[in-house]
Amino acid sequence: MRPTAPEMDGMMSVMLSAFDPAFGEAWNERQLASAMLIPGTRFAMIDAHGVLGPPSPSVPTAGFYLTRQVVDEEELLLIAVDPEYRRLGLGSRLLEHLLANAQERGTARLFLEMRADNPAEHFYRRYGFEQVGLRRDYYRGADGRLRDAKTFARTLVQVIELRSAQ
Ligand SMILES: CC(C)(COP(=O)(O)OP(=O)(O)OC[C@H]1O[C@@H](n2cnc3c(N)ncnc32)[C@H](O)[C@@H]1OP(=O)(O)O)[C@@H](O)C(=O)NCCC(=O)NCCS
Repeated sequence: MRPTAPEMDGMMSVMLSAFDPAFGEAWNERQLASAMLIPGTRFAMIDAHGVLGPPSPSVPTAGFYLTRQVVDEEELLLIAVDPEYRRLGLGSRLLEHLLANAQERGTARLFLEMRADNPAEHFYRRYGFEQVGLRRDYYRGADGRLRDAKTFARTLVQVIELRSAQ
């Protein structure tokens, strides 16, 4: 899914404001653009009024997510909300959008990787994600310090339609 120039600009502006450079989690524009070329990669954006969809010229972009599906598994690669618009439910709206859409496209399990001391853990646990792994020294911060990453997963229930034989 190739983003337009305004979509790239909106995502990069959130990326630069949302991730503390000390932790080395933010992606640069080149990384974001090349990730978009990989099949199964999707994104969604939300504006400062809580509207999901492409950016509008008059309302600032407040958040986005980036996800990649491979067969029936999916990885949430990034989710971020500009600090100015946090704790207003926008991150939840993005995550609920992802959960609903992932279920619809047949994803059975959704994974994500997160810095071990990231307060976003509360956010993910609230949505039923559970820790399934730990990667030692996964992130290198601006100060050269290495930090562990936790892997979280959530199973999505697939509704199977049963038809009567009659
Ligand atoms: C994680 C993030 C996307 C949450 O966005 P948000 O818009 O603030 O989320 P919401 O307002 O929907 O929060 C929903 C709930 O999650 C929990 N939560 C969110 N941020 C939290 C924090 N910093 N500390 C503790 N709980 C938190 C709370 O339970 C919150 O509900 P409440 O406000 O009623 O208490 C945002 O903090 C962010 O962009 N963080 C930096 C980027 C990042 O680390 N992303 C995750 C790794 S890729």
